[in-house]
Amino acid sequence: MIGVTAPGKLYIAGEYAVVEPGHPAIIAAVDQFITVTIEPAKKNGSIQSAQYSELPIRWTRRNGELTLDIRENPFHYILAAIRLTEKYAQENAVALSFYDLKVTSELDSSNGRKYGLGSSGAVTVATVKALNSFYELHLSQMEIFKIAALAHLDVQGNGSCGDIAASCYGGWIAFSTFDHLWVRQQKKQLSLAELLHTDWPYLSIQSLPVPKKMRLLIGWTGSPASTSDLVDQVHESKEEKQKAYAQFLAESKACVTAMIQGFKTQNVACIKQMIHQNRQLLNQLSSITGVIIETPALKKLCDLAETYGGTAKSSGAGGGDCGIVITDQKSGILPLMSAWEKAAITPLPLHVYHYQERTSDESKR
Ligand code: PMV
Ligand code: MG
Repeated sequence: MIGVTAPGKLYIAGEYAVVEPGHPAIIAAVDQFITVTIEPAKKNGSIQSAQYSELPIRWTRRNGELTLDIRENPFHYILAAIRLTEKYAQENAVALSFYDLKVTSELDSSNGRKYGLGSSGAVTVATVKALNSFYELHLSQMEIFKIAALAHLDVQGNGSCGDIAASCYGGWIAFSTFDHLWVRQQKKQLSLAELLHTDWPYLSIQSLPVPKKMRLLIGWTGSPASTSDLVDQVHESKEEKQKAYAQFLAESKACVTAMIQGFKTQNVACIKQMIHQNRQLLNQLSSITGVIIETPALKKLCDLAETYGGTAKSSGAGGGDCGIVITDQKSGILPLMSAWEKAAITPLPLHVYHYQERTSDESKR
């Protein structure tokens, strides 16, 4: 049996701006995983996912008709990942066969609620990795990223694929997305193998060193948020507010670039300052677009963190899910945890996950 895992992620900075090519974000992989196992089968294959069968299927109404938002349904990501990886296998004259594919997830709470740790990205990456082993394709880390990104885009369409990069590379990364239009055009003309072997304009994935004294704390608001919905909403209003949006993009880029420099020079004070600035920029984006990113619960989470010597912001699309705190003051951590609990914020005991730490463990799975 083949068993692979892919970690979830948390955005640290650069959200929303990162959906535009060449605008950096900082993202960390966390030690909660999606596991995909594959066993050879005869005649028929199957796909099974215990965790997801608990999740409600969300639907909406378009022109009066009930429509499913396929971006919310993990099966579409699994299917897209299978189709593309098998396309690559076929291009390389690998014979396709049947298998039973099973998904288990630590990225959703036991009662089916999402933490916002990026389960759609992780399931896409884990499926590509599992088939990479099953068909012995010997894909590189970058090739796995590119196949998973193409699969994810087929379903979601509007994301940066930063969650895919974090899940593929692990640790802390600086990420900027590729020119999606260019990739879509090339996809029509090139074979998949050719597309994987070309450089994608603006794509950059860089591992970041982490200052020793820096601590990352994570708080969960308990209310789920839909990233694709929020990104749609921001994009709907950006057309009419072009000037303000362009300024947000430029300022986010400058802020995150300074933060990346802070990581490289082990300068926690600089990182904290830029987290604070990024929080303000996201609040400005909220004013520009009318989309609520920092909900009252996230504001509470962040304000309490600041009281105890940290700097904090919403993580990812916001609207619920998690907030992150960067601190170098150990003495404030326990008081902050109790203050959070009183305010109904759940501290999540997660750590940043680096691939090399897991190799011996992973071979057991
Ligand atoms: O809410 P999350 O953790 O899935 O993060 C979304 C981050 C955005 O920049 C808003 C969207 C994206 O795809 O990068
Ligand atoms: Mg989210």
